[in-house]
Amino acid sequence: MQSPKDLVNFIVILVLVKSVFSDTSEPFSKPDMVEYVTSLGYPIESHIVETEDNYILKIFRIPHGKKFKKTSRRTPIILMHGILAGPESFAMLGPDRSLSFRLAEAGYDVWLPNCRGTTHSRKHKTLDPDRNASYWDFSWHEIGKYDLPAVIDKIIEKTGSKQVTYIGHSQGGTIVFVTASERPEYKKKLSKVIVMAPAVYLNHFNNTVLKDLVKDFKTIYSVYLSVNSGERLFYSSYSDLRYFMYAFKDLFPGLLRYVWEMFNGESEVTDFKQVIEFLPTLPAGSSIKQIAHFSQNINSKSFRHFDYGAEKNLKIYNKTVPPEYNVKGMDLPIYIFATKSDIYIPIKVIMQQYEKLKCIKNFGQATF
Ligand SMILES: *[C@@H]1O[C@H](CO)[C@@H](O)[C@H](O)[C@H]1NC(C)=O
Ligand SMILES: *[C@@H]1O[C@H](CO)[C@@H](O)[C@H](O)[C@H]1NC(C)=O
Ligand SMILES: *[C@@H]1O[C@H](CO)[C@@H](O)[C@H](O)[C@H]1NC(C)=O
Repeated sequence: MQSPKDLVNFIVILVLVKSVFSDTSEPFSKPDMVEYVTSLGYPIESHIVETEDNYILKIFRIPHGKKFKKTSRRTPIILMHGILAGPESFAMLGPDRSLSFRLAEAGYDVWLPNCRGTTHSRKHKTLDPDRNASYWDFSWHEIGKYDLPAVIDKIIEKTGSKQVTYIGHSQGGTIVFVTASERPEYKKKLSKVIVMAPAVYLNHFNNTVLKDLVKDFKTIYSVYLSVNSGERLFYSSYSDLRYFMYAFKDLFPGLLRYVWEMFNGESEVTDFKQVIEFLPTLPAGSSIKQIAHFSQNINSKSFRHFDYGAEKNLKIYNKTVPPEYNVKGMDLPIYIFATKSDIYIPIKVIMQQYEKLKCIKNFGQATF
């Protein structure tokens, strides 16, 4: 171990290896989203939606705030979580600072989807995520192509509204571009798209800690698949680490901040107490294919479909190289929120690549 970078790589590989052999039981209870929101005096509903490719997802809804309870004529708004996270990320900073409660008080009808594979959406019509490896054969491509359209349709059905507003964080920003590219008919169902630290063009990904790992991810991915027929990642497996951090939260608040900022950049979150309480909800489940897909895009400096290798690409795409997503000329009002301290996607790059940009202060990737 010559540097912190080597140490982090070593830990990540340990966690990956460990995740292959671990069982799926959850020894500790996580904070419950419904109980938590209810305890703060807010209404919360759960809705179930089925995707075209048979995944069954849960969507939470905070239909209104505490001050004004009238539900009619509220604008429905989707808050879409990032990779390895869940809707808790929009609620865990409490009623005064979390986006979901702030928007509910501001008059919005707040919808919080859970993408396939995450804690609240581990269901499928025929597949069992713990027993059928093929359940995990998806990337954020499928989330954008199937999950988001299903969510949008459900909200339109329930509210009678013609359009929804969309806010996506990180991968939540990625998938809306996939939807626009693969399901252009959904563009007219979106009134506004707001993406925070979107992971779309990753050409300049230069995180010192993760850079080398990404370079080698192809190897890690194939090794992982060869020993682990399933593709589930970071569900129960990773829990050892999160419970370890949780158990030592009082002893090492500085360490927690260090780890947080290593992955998320300098952040204005000063009160880590609330974050700590929700640590057991993170990371939510993901497929390793999502991470492989991001790594491919970083390495190829492009925003394109999953690369299966020339031979399989030819079968799937009729091309040896995967096609690019069509995000040019998206006739959608898009607002980009970026951050100076985003260590994954530098603001300069975002400003070059997107037209409309509104910049808010120093928020790290995961602060939203
Ligand atoms: C899912 O796994 C179960 C248990 O191993 C098996 O009986 C079933 O046939 C599998 N389903 C599919 C669609 O592969
Ligand atoms: C990436 O970061 C290193 C230092 O950490 C710097 O020397 C290098 O120029 C950066 N590369 C790009 C493409 O920004
Ligand atoms: C596959 O690509 C070739 C060459 O670009 C083209 O001629 C052919 O029509 C394509 N086939 C299909 C099924 O799209």
